[in-house]
Formats: sequence, structure tokens, C-alpha cells
Amino acid sequence: MTKPILPEEVAAAVVDPVAYGSWDPLHEQLAWARANAPLAVAENAELDPFWLVTRHADIMAISRDPGRFANGLRPTVLTNRDGEAIARAATPGGDGHLIRSLVQMDAPDHMKYRLLTQSWFMPKNLKIVEDRIRHHARSAVEQMLAMDGTCDFARDVAAHYPLRVIMDILGVPAEDEPRMLMLTQQLFGSTDPELNRSREAITSAEQAIAMLNYVIADFEQYFGALTADRRASPREDIATVIANATVGGASIPDRELAGYYMIIATAGHDTTSASTAGAIMELAKNPKLFERFRDAESDKAGLIEEAIRWTTPVQHFMRSAREDVEIGGQTIREGDWLMLNYVSGNRDEAVFGDPFTFDPDREKNQQIAFGFGAHVCLGQHLARMEMRILMEELLPRLKSIELAGEPARVESVFVGGLKRLPIRFAPA
Ligand code: HEM
Repeated sequence: MTKPILPEEVAAAVVDPVAYGSWDPLHEQLAWARANAPLAVAENAELDPFWLVTRHADIMAISRDPGRFANGLRPTVLTNRDGEAIARAATPGGDGHLIRSLVQMDAPDHMKYRLLTQSWFMPKNLKIVEDRIRHHARSAVEQMLAMDGTCDFARDVAAHYPLRVIMDILGVPAEDEPRMLMLTQQLFGSTDPELNRSREAITSAEQAIAMLNYVIADFEQYFGALTADRRASPREDIATVIANATVGGASIPDRELAGYYMIIATAGHDTTSASTAGAIMELAKNPKLFERFRDAESDKAGLIEEAIRWTTPVQHFMRSAREDVEIGGQTIREGDWLMLNYVSGNRDEAVFGDPFTFDPDREKNQQIAFGFGAHVCLGQHLARMEMRILMEELLPRLKSIELAGEPARVESVFVGGLKRLPIRFAPA
């Protein structure tokens, strides 16, 4: 059977950072793919062809089958052909992963490493840190209320609060947060000239990899020092767990150690910031919704879940087929590369009634923003809890909130969301 090929404009949009920045036109292309070619190959000059997976059901099926759809064989995030070749030349064993974290691991390593910290992120343990999180939420609210009735919510509030929370849990002191924030933005926003390290458009794979390697070296240097400290003087934080953990009877090797810190330090904030800012944007646009959730007694769960679906901060992850597999009526061949497009899965008409309406009252919100299966987001309970606590602390303190300018999204194919959200607010 021949492979279905996507029209050029769809193939081009799903790999274009600018398309993720402009958002609505991208949704039109994804809706077309869901209706007409839900599992079809995207061909672009500088990239190896890959299957674009746009339906919720297919994303779930692939995610629940890590034995046949691997993370470690090819890049887990969209990378062009030159970039992959350069990364393979620059990495141990030629595996092409500049960072080796949970995301790049498969069985048997993946579970061994995941279990080292998994219990920290379970709701039972998170109850223990709830008071600390609330303290950070209150400080964020106080800082916002001191801002004279206007702010850029994305930059001034949403970017800082989840960072403070994850750094506190990880064990990074507050004074090092600006450095962590800058490095994360440089890592995830490497294609956005407003955020990347060189502040220029990236025009070659060499340039992109060189820039990423500088960012990774900075992270490694920082976490190397933290490891030494926590081995000498353990504390009640995740850095202590990682620094002193053993896998197969030995300490974690340096590369995996750095990867572990980096995935927790980076996955844990830009994502949650994006969903938090997205929730506030919808409340600023809809006074009725704002009034309802401002009520201290209101249950925020539906608002949080819908904001996560609506924003889908992690826009894709890639998988690679270990063997030939029949799925969604197509034959995927061994070695094929697949893009799980969560942005599309979260607007799938087959799963969500009125998918383009922001509706906190969805009966069973099956949003797939946290992925699914063996690699499902380790921090999903933390992300929900952080968002809920901020809404509980912030909304009752406001009388009104409205947009005060044009919001803008990050231009990135991987982690996206609002980078600017100008609002006007009146304290209660
Ligand atoms: C993995 C999304 C917040 C840590 C993932 C994955 C997604 C995701 C899509 C991959 C799932 C898969 O492959 O099936 C999000 C979103 C967040 C968020 C949308 C916020 C709204 C967090 C937070 C942490 C975190 C707060 C804190 C530590 C991780 C880690 C992984 C991961 C460590 C790798 C898990 C593995 O490969 O086993 N996340 N995440 N995330 N996330 Fe999150």
C-alpha cells in the first residue's frame, strides 16, 4: 500500500515555528488533516519524512505501545536532517540525543530512572508541599497587585510562579532562578529570535546545535556543583534524591544525571506558565466566566483542565517505529518517524464537542496535553495543583480583569504558549 502524502501547505505548517506562533491558521491545517488524512506523511526539504499523527485515538494508541514505538531511536523533538547528523556525530554512541533524560529513554532504563523520583510527584506527596506552593502563589499575587493595575501577565506573573515552585522542590535557591529561566527559554525557544541566545534568526543546523550546546554546558556546570553539594550535605529536595540515587548499584552516570536535572528544571515551568497565562487570557475575555471563578467557593478543576487542553503547551513529541505496525488503517514501517501532534489531538472533533470553544464545563475532559502511557507527564499532578492554587489566591483578589493589548505567542514547534499577555486589572 502506498503511503498517503500530506499537501505541501499542511506539511510546511506543522514544522514552522511561525505557524505555532500565529496559532489559528495552524488549527485550520490540522483540522483538515484530521478530516482528510489523519495519519499521513509530511515531506519537507530539510527534514526526513515523518507521519503526522493528528487524531486523539491514534496518539493514544501509539503512546500506549512503547515496545513498538520508541523514544530513544531518533530525535524525540522535530529536528532537521542536518541537525540530526551533527547531533549524532557529537553524542556518545552516535545516539543523537544532546540530552539523555527520561524522555529519550526506553525500557529497561526508562522505568528504573523514572521510579527514582516518581513518588515525589504523586498527589499524596504533593500534599506535603501544598503550603509551600501556596506561599509562592501568594507572593506572586502580592507582586502583581503592587503593579498599578496593568501588567504583562505572561512575563510578570506566569513566567515566575511555576519556576519558583519547581526550583523550590528541586532545591535551586531563589537567586539562581533568573539564570534557570533564561536557560530554559534558550533551550525551548531556540527558534524564536526574541528568546534564543544569539537573539538572531537561526539559519543553519550548525548554528542551532552550537547554541544548544552552550545552553546545555551552562546547565551541566550548574547542576554539577549542585550534585557535589547534595552529596556532601543532603537535604529534603529532589536534587538530593537525584545526586544520591543509584541505578544497578552505581551512581547515575554524569550524562544521565545532567539530563535528569534538566528535564525536571525545564519541563516543570514554561509549560505550566503557558497554561496559567492561557487560563487568565480566557477569563480576561469573558467577564461572566471571570465572575464565576472569582467566587472563592467555586470548583476550579474544570477551568484548569480546559486551560490545559486549550493551550496544549507541549505541542508535539516524536516516536520511531521499532517494527512494522498497522495503525489507523495505515502500515507504519520499521524505522518510520512519527509526530504525535497534541495540539491537534486536543481539538479532535471525535472526542471534544465544540473543540474550538473554551468550555470549563466539559463533562469528561479527555485532554491529551500530558501525553499518555509510559512517558505520561511526571509533573501532571503538580501542574494542576499549582494552577489551582494560583487561581484560588488570585481571582478573589480581583474586581475585574481585561485585555490591555495584543497577546503574542512563542514561535516554537515544541513548547509554545503566550509570551506576552498585557492585561488591565482592578483589585477587589
Ligand atoms: C513529560 C506535558 C508540566 C515533568 C511530558 C510529556 C508531555 C508533558 C506531553 C510527554 C508525555 C508522553 O511522551 O507521553 C506537560 C504539560 C505541563 C507539564 C502540558 C503543564 C501544563 C510538568 C511539570 C513537571 C513535568 C510541572 C515537573 C517536574 C515532566 C517529565 C516528563 C514529562 C519529567 C518526562 C516523563 C517521561 O518521559 O517518563 N510532559 N508537562 N511536566 N513532564 Fe510534563
